[in-house]
Order: sequence, then C-alpha cells, then structure tokens
Amino acid sequence: MGKTLTFLGIESSCDDTAAAVVDSTGRILSSEVEGQVVLHAAFGGVVPEIAARAHAERLDHVVERALATAGVGLRDLDGIAVTAGPGLIGGVLSGVMLARGLAAGTGLPLIGVNHLAGHALTPRLTDGLDFPYLMLLVSGGHCQFLIVEDVDRFRRVGGTIDDAPGEAFDKTAKLLGLPQPGGPAVEAEARAGDPRRFAFPRPLLDREGCDLSFSGLKTALLRARDAVMANAGGLRLQDRRDLCAGFQAAVADVLAEKTRRALSLYLELSPARAVCAVAGGVAANQALRARLETVCQALDVQFLAPPLRLCTDNAAMIAWAGLERFRAGLVDPADLVARPRWPLDATAPVLIGSGKKGAKG
Ligand code: KG4
Ligand code: ZN
Repeated sequence: MGKTLTFLGIESSCDDTAAAVVDSTGRILSSEVEGQVVLHAAFGGVVPEIAARAHAERLDHVVERALATAGVGLRDLDGIAVTAGPGLIGGVLSGVMLARGLAAGTGLPLIGVNHLAGHALTPRLTDGLDFPYLMLLVSGGHCQFLIVEDVDRFRRVGGTIDDAPGEAFDKTAKLLGLPQPGGPAVEAEARAGDPRRFAFPRPLLDREGCDLSFSGLKTALLRARDAVMANAGGLRLQDRRDLCAGFQAAVADVLAEKTRRALSLYLELSPARAVCAVAGGVAANQALRARLETVCQALDVQFLAPPLRLCTDNAAMIAWAGLERFRAGLVDPADLVARPRWPLDATAPVLIGSGKKGAKG
C-alpha cells in the first residue's frame, strides 16, 4: 500500500452544490451538499440560469466548509477532482473553473470526472467492491445498466429510450400536487395506497432486451387522475395514495424484470463476479430496493445499495472517482474543459430520446 491520498471533490452539474474530502482508504472526511429545491420550487423544474448563478455564488463557500469540516487545508490535499460533465453547462462550468483555479494556485493535479462514473464507482467507495460488477444507475436524468469493468471502462447493456424514472416520479408528484423532489413524496403516499386499484402499463416488458421506457407511464397516470377527477369531482386522499402506489409498483416491476435480464446477460460474461449494485437518487426508494434484492437473491447474486446520502448527488463520489482516475494515471491538463454531453460508453448506440433532459445524472 502506498501513501494515503486525500482528494477534494466538487460537484455542480445539476441542482446540488457539493464539495467533499475523501481519502484513498475510503474515508469520507466531509461531504457538504447544498440543494437548490427552494430556488426552483416555483417553476416546477430546474431552471438552468438560476442553477448556474446559485452554483457560482455558493461553490467557494461550500468548498471552504468541506475543507474546514474535514480539518484539512489545501496543502494537505493530493489532488482536485471536479465533475466535468454531463449536466447543465452553466453549473458544470462553475465547478470546472473553480477547480482549475485551485489546481493552478496550488500546483495540485486536476482530474475531471464524469458525473455518471461518480455514481457508478460509488460501491467501490462504500464497499470496496472489485471490478467487474453490474450497475443499475437510476436517477432524475438517467437510467442505464452498466457493466463496470474498470475505472474508465463502462459497457452499457441497456437504458431508457425516453425519460428517466426520477423524472417520472417528479412529474407524478407534480400532477398530484405533491412537493418536489417527487420521489420521496410519492413513496410516502404509496405506503398507504393500493397498488392494484389502477392498471398501469409495464412499458417494453414485451420487448426483448434491457431497454426501458417511462414516458407512457406518465401519460397513463395523468389519464387515471383525470378519470378519477371527472367521476368524483376531485381527488381524495386515498385516490392519491392509490395512484402513487400503482405508479411505483409499475416502475418497480419494470426495473425488477429488466434487472433480471441485465443480470443474466452480465452473468454469462462474468459468472465469477456475481454482484449487482444500484446508484442514483431513485435507488433511495425502499420498495424498489426490496424488489431488486429479491431478483438478486433468486439468481444467487450479491446486491449492494449505497447509503441514501451517497445515492443522491454528492461530491464524495466525485472525489473518490478522481482518486481512482489519479491512481490509474488519468490526470487532466490545466485547461480541462466542461462537457455538457458525455456518454460513459462511447461505443453504445445512442438511444432515441434518451437523456432528453440531459441535466441530471
Ligand atoms: O441522483 P439524483 O440526486 O440527481 C440526479 O438525477 O442526478 O436523483 C434525483 C432524483 C429525483 O428525480 C428524485 O425524485 C429521485 O431521484 N428520488 C427518488 C427517491 N428519492 C429521490 N425517487 C423515488 N423514490 C425515492 N425515495
Ligand atoms: Zn446524479
């Protein structure tokens, strides 16, 4: 084992301004996340200009706090990692420019990290997982199955052809008058609901492979809501709970079945490393976790889900991915550029309509 390395991580690709200090033993010395939910609440979605301005105003404070909480100064660091994409260009630029400045001022190595790689490498930070493993990345802007082969080698074996599940949870919440972000609110309502009352579709289950679709589910929810309102003259509390439960069950059913298929495919390639990990904000959903765990148990596969605060956007995952890249000799030049679009697997075919929102990872 060489010297323990300590990295600062910076994340500003969507609506969380985050900074963290992580060392190469996997210790998270600090992880600060400042959300922007309040700033965007009135608009029903993330407004890029507002997000960019807030990142620019808050980033240096959040970095200072992360260093102070960790009890380290800039001279104690061994490198600076920053999300260089994909995401909203204004926010990504704020982070990249700050990281470039810090690296130039200190002479520290600068490492640009793909936000999705940050999510995908999280089980190595939390559980010391070895390569390869299957990763289901489910968030507000992305949904894909990745075979994580190495720090810089990800093979996509399926993904959404339209919306991401988190986006569908957020839309569902909006249609039912629940607060944003929608996932936790819909999950809470669903606990007291009947998942069988409304017959929601299970998109693409009839089609082979691991691709997914969630936009039809949003439309189905809208129709079901309107039908209840037309019949009863309004939406009762129990109607809302049943709609949430039905919607969540449909998402969980589809993700469980497609995970089963992705696992079969993965196990054919790597039977000796039977591990499936999940990451991204939607991975915080307990009902979904339970379903995925059952799928894995049936196939005798180890299931790993990081703690909730490391499922949603954070900078600890960026610091860690930066450390991993640094150890692999992947250091960036001082003029590191921001990349609003940056697929993890450049060889995978582009899925029509996927990543439409493009803002979140
Ligand atoms: O990974 P994340 O923090 O941001 C990116 O999208 O990169 O994920 C945020 C998404 C939101 O759409 C939010 O509604 C969803 O994750 N989410 C959940 C839950 N908690 C957060 N979705 C379902 N159930 C949850 N408990
Ligand atoms: Zn993300």
